[in-house]
Amino acid sequence: MISYENKIILAPMVRIGTLPMRLLALRYGADLVYTEELIDWKFLRSKRRFNEILNTVDYVDQTDGTIVFRTCMEEKEKVVLQLGTADATRALKVAKLVENDVAAIDINMGCPKEFSIKGGMGVALLSQPEKAHSILSTLVNNLTIPVTCKIRIFDTPEETLRVVNILVSSGIKAIAIHGRTRDERPQHAVHPDIIKYVAEKISIPVIANGGSKEIEKYDDILKFKDMAGCTSVMIARAAEWNCSIFRQEGLLPMDTVIKEYLKIAVDYDNSPSNTKYCVQNILRDLQETPRGRQFLECQTMEQICAIWDLQEYCQKQQSYHQKMGIQGRWQVTP
Ligand code: FNR
Repeated sequence: MISYENKIILAPMVRIGTLPMRLLALRYGADLVYTEELIDWKFLRSKRRFNEILNTVDYVDQTDGTIVFRTCMEEKEKVVLQLGTADATRALKVAKLVENDVAAIDINMGCPKEFSIKGGMGVALLSQPEKAHSILSTLVNNLTIPVTCKIRIFDTPEETLRVVNILVSSGIKAIAIHGRTRDERPQHAVHPDIIKYVAEKISIPVIANGGSKEIEKYDDILKFKDMAGCTSVMIARAAEWNCSIFRQEGLLPMDTVIKEYLKIAVDYDNSPSNTKYCVQNILRDLQETPRGRQFLECQTMEQICAIWDLQEYCQKQQSYHQKMGIQGRWQVTP
């Protein structure tokens, strides 16, 4: 059973938190890694398969064959699956499917995007704390793995604490708090003081989140954690930009991080579009350089890898995967 004390964590990020980035974060020193938010009803369209060639467990969408969630032994004890849900029964169905493949389940109660709010998910749940409580307690009472949630703060420390206390009474093992309100955007200042107020008053670990704007090196992670008075901390954007932020020994150059990321993406047959998106978010402004423009035109893994001198590595792995018949040898497990 995982503990949430004294942990440095990769935050959930849509499209960024797929298997290659999670493994890279773990290899650089992250203690736990969250998946991107996976929407319950979409997940329920998928079937679990063991992929013998990659040694991965794949949840494959039965309608279009895309991989909804891919995981492997290396992360089994450290991966937290984040669900987007507005419905306790559906959430439990997904959680039961993945219970033996992941270390914990987290419910997203912080996403302010229209898609989430319209569906009663994400931050919408914070305006219905009783419903949020019922989703969490349904999971807590029926799962053998820990359950957590990730929320945003309210305008005042007192209101934040009031809602947190309702959520905590469901039996969750920890709570991640993003120190911004539902109307604040990433460029707004974070409020570690409100996280601290809550962390001092509740009995379960609080995971502080929202500090990336001021996080440029490993020590800044610890500074933010201390400011928020928390035992654990969760990093999103600073890791999206340079995942080696998790290295106690210090940041690595961007090109090294991209190379290491690409190797894992090739090893695990990650889709070219997802790989490109993640590399784009490491390159950021550098997409305007000649090499960046060349990168933007890439459509295959091989083309992307060629820019970082990994063409041969990519060819070798891809032909091995093909020889083994990566598509044909999946076994459906019960
Ligand atoms: C996010 N965030 C987010 N949060 C969440 O609970 N589930 C998710 O799927 C996502 N997706 C996502 C994608 C991207 C690209 C970003 C940048 C952010 C929010 C994220 O986890 C975090 O709460 C905020 O980014 C604040 O933390 P940082 O960036 O200051 O460390």
